[in-house]
Amino acid sequence: MVILKIGSKLALILALGCGLTAVAASVEEQGTPAQEKPALKALMPKGLLIGAAINQRQSDGKDALAGAIVERQFNTISPENILKWGLIHPEPKRYDFEPADRYVAFGQAHGMAVIGHNLIWHNQTPAWVFTEADGARSTRESLLAKMQQHISTVVGRYRGKIHGWDVVNEAFDEDGSYRKTPWHEAIGDDFLLKAFEFAHDADPQAELYYNDYNLWKPAKRAAALRLVKQLKERGLRIDAVGEQGHWSLTTPTAAEIDATITDIAGAGVKAMITELDIDVLPRDPKMFGADLATRAQLKAATDLYASGLPPAQQQQLAARYGEAFGIFLKRHDLLTRITFWGVTDAHSWLNDFPVPGRTNHPLLWDRQGQPKPAFDAVVAQLQAYKGAP
Ligand code: G3I
Repeated sequence: MVILKIGSKLALILALGCGLTAVAASVEEQGTPAQEKPALKALMPKGLLIGAAINQRQSDGKDALAGAIVERQFNTISPENILKWGLIHPEPKRYDFEPADRYVAFGQAHGMAVIGHNLIWHNQTPAWVFTEADGARSTRESLLAKMQQHISTVVGRYRGKIHGWDVVNEAFDEDGSYRKTPWHEAIGDDFLLKAFEFAHDADPQAELYYNDYNLWKPAKRAAALRLVKQLKERGLRIDAVGEQGHWSLTTPTAAEIDATITDIAGAGVKAMITELDIDVLPRDPKMFGADLATRAQLKAATDLYASGLPPAQQQQLAARYGEAFGIFLKRHDLLTRITFWGVTDAHSWLNDFPVPGRTNHPLLWDRQGQPKPAFDAVVAQLQAYKGAP
């Protein structure tokens, strides 16, 4: 670490002398040592938070490398998993609050806006939630009672400490119809309205959000905006709609990203980019549902950058992040938060999706915690914005 502080040329000599070729190469490629890079949070426009989802090792303080990046760079955190129903409320009468308590304490200790993700989702929710004691499917009344109990307990525990909640996650299909989930099947269309009502009752000060992916697709976005309208017509609180932002190098287009933000704002709420990452590996729809043999073949054929992202692809990723942040800055008054889904490439969920065990490179920091050209591209956009009249 001392080496990094004394300048890249001297670092190269020292590092070669010490046999630390990899460190030197990384420093030389990046130009500026990691510690001297600017902090993103210091460059953001007023009112626009910047953050990352952190995993349990990180909120427990057991990942010093990622922890240092989070503390220096971000002013908001999201929990990658620990606030999801299955982790915090694994059995009907058992809550496991400790990891979430440490997550909230971590954010508070660093003065960050602590986000709650999520209250109602079809994934990572135990089967008992949707089943009666006799094994039958939960009735509307019984499921609503469980929903209310869960939301009032979890939101109530962190009242005044969690800045905003993803109340419902991923409730719509790509064509804008209600996704066929146990929530929708047992309760009906109004399960979303009920969840927002219960969340507001449990913490009237907390911001409340609807969160989904692919809202750049007009039909799906229209469904989310219908929800906003329904909530507002009933006098229920909703502050923002989050487009997750699990994007690729080419999809969605700049125009689609821009329309997503302006349309959400047009519905009378703020827009947020809540789970940003850029997948650099091929993602063939045929991969989903592939059997194991095929998966192994797919991994072999598509794990293209297992030994590192080559310079040309680094530049492509940088250009893509630069493009995205150019739009975010143009629309900054319509946005309240940008959150990356992870800190470094080492722990991104995209290493295991849609094909397990690949080496993906979707974030701003590489596996060693070094900022990538994509980081510099984001900084360049932010500095240009700061310097603009
Ligand atoms: O905790 C167990 C561990 O005990 C076990 O040994 C290991 C073996 O696979 O699994 C661990 O659980 C995994 C968990 O992440 C924690 O790492 C689950 O298998 C795995 O399915 C789970 O994946 C999470 C995924 O949501 C579940 O749907 C990802 O980490 C998380 O990044 C991802 O996040 C979602 C957002 O919540 C909503 N939007 C999409 C986004 C990406 O899928």
